[in-house]
Amino acid sequence: MRTIIEPFRIKVVEPIRLSTRREREKLLREAGYNVFLIDAEHITFDFLTDSGTGAMSAAQWGRLMVGDESYAGSTSFRRFEKVVRELTGKKHIIPTHQGRAAESILFSVTVDETKYVPNNCHFDTTRANVEFRKGHAVDLVVDECHQPQLDAPFKGNIDLNKLEKFIERVGPANIPMGFLTVTNNTGGGQPVSMRNIRETKELLGKYGIPLFLDACRFAENAYFIKLREKGYENTPVREIAQEIFSYADGCTMSAKKDGFGNIGGFLAMNDDELAMKARNMLILTEGFPTYGGLAGRDLEALAQGLVEILDENYLQYRLACVRYLGVGLNKMGIPTIQPPGGHAIYIDAKAFLPHIPQGEYPGQSLTAAMYLEGGIRAVEIGSVMFGKPDPDDPGKEIPAEMELVRMAVPRRVYTQSHIDYVLESMEGVVKTKDELRGCRITWQPPFLRHFTARFEPV
Ligand code: F0G
Repeated sequence: MRTIIEPFRIKVVEPIRLSTRREREKLLREAGYNVFLIDAEHITFDFLTDSGTGAMSAAQWGRLMVGDESYAGSTSFRRFEKVVRELTGKKHIIPTHQGRAAESILFSVTVDETKYVPNNCHFDTTRANVEFRKGHAVDLVVDECHQPQLDAPFKGNIDLNKLEKFIERVGPANIPMGFLTVTNNTGGGQPVSMRNIRETKELLGKYGIPLFLDACRFAENAYFIKLREKGYENTPVREIAQEIFSYADGCTMSAKKDGFGNIGGFLAMNDDELAMKARNMLILTEGFPTYGGLAGRDLEALAQGLVEILDENYLQYRLACVRYLGVGLNKMGIPTIQPPGGHAIYIDAKAFLPHIPQGEYPGQSLTAAMYLEGGIRAVEIGSVMFGKPDPDDPGKEIPAEMELVRMAVPRRVYTQSHIDYVLESMEGVVKTKDELRGCRITWQPPFLRHFTARFEPV
């Protein structure tokens, strides 16, 4: 087989700034060894997130110009609504400014302190939006998800036995809906199989509980099904995506991922009464039902993006690109969650840097080393993000279960030679890994400390 190419030509370019190691040393020190605090102009390769960071196509930029900015009933909304309805098959399409706004609206009309929401794994904002209403967000992913080195095709699946026991325990009346996150971001960007989606729907249906999808990366999940699930080898990916949505009663969507948007999202559902309640909240917090939190031009770009994302040449390149990064890291001895995810590679920093104790944040040290070596920005998902104060000893911390560093790949942004450069830089990190030291926190805020905390090397 020939090289899987970037299936596009480049029409508009954005320079990336190269910096010297000395400059980076200074910038890193000034930023308290926290790459969140380094301005983007000083980053050469930004793998902080795949959200809102993708490149729009010429066709999407073209659609911006025809955006209809009418307050009510804009033609851009009708176009967006049609595309989303054809994809999801849902009756009510409610635009929001991004995914968490859709979550906030949905849970504000369905969740209170008596309610439980099961999911394979909740994304942070999904969990926070359930818990903000005093509800209970419960993760019931299959056990395989907790074995980083295990190579299995659908580690994003929900465990149906756990789900049934859970329903029996808390009672179906206390579960406004079940959720599946496709792909499972928190669990390593791993896909959910069609069979698991169908069986989840059947199980929930038995108890009269609706199924919702957190559909941010539905196209990547659909392509994984095509590659890995028997019976789908020859099914067009668009039909696979439609089948996925056909089992759901509704979805929340951040169109900043598989919508090819820099901003945007939506909520979709069939239930008339729920939709009415959601639209009432929408008007309060986002805007009129035919624009939500978006400009008409954004709706145009998304309507186009949601079609382009299902181009199989693109999806083949997309998954190959992420895999290429993951396999390259593995070849030089950097352990990552197996198999590579759809949008990101997750480095196991605890296994890679066993000489740094968890209390000295090996993931944070690794993000600093990656910046220093190649101007690469990645995000720690470990004890800086999830460490908790020890209730028995306030001076101590209970570390996170895993010390991961996520490299999320923006869509259509970096070429293969960019990834080669990144891999060459990572070889530099590997060479000096034994000299890498841990770090300690010199300042931290009371909440969400990973964004602004400052560190120094131990
Ligand atoms: N659900 C999942 C699975 C996500 O990954 C995200 C965002 C959201 C919901 C929220 O969407 O950002 O549009 O409000 N994930 C980004 C990330 C931020 O970096 O993984 P949003």
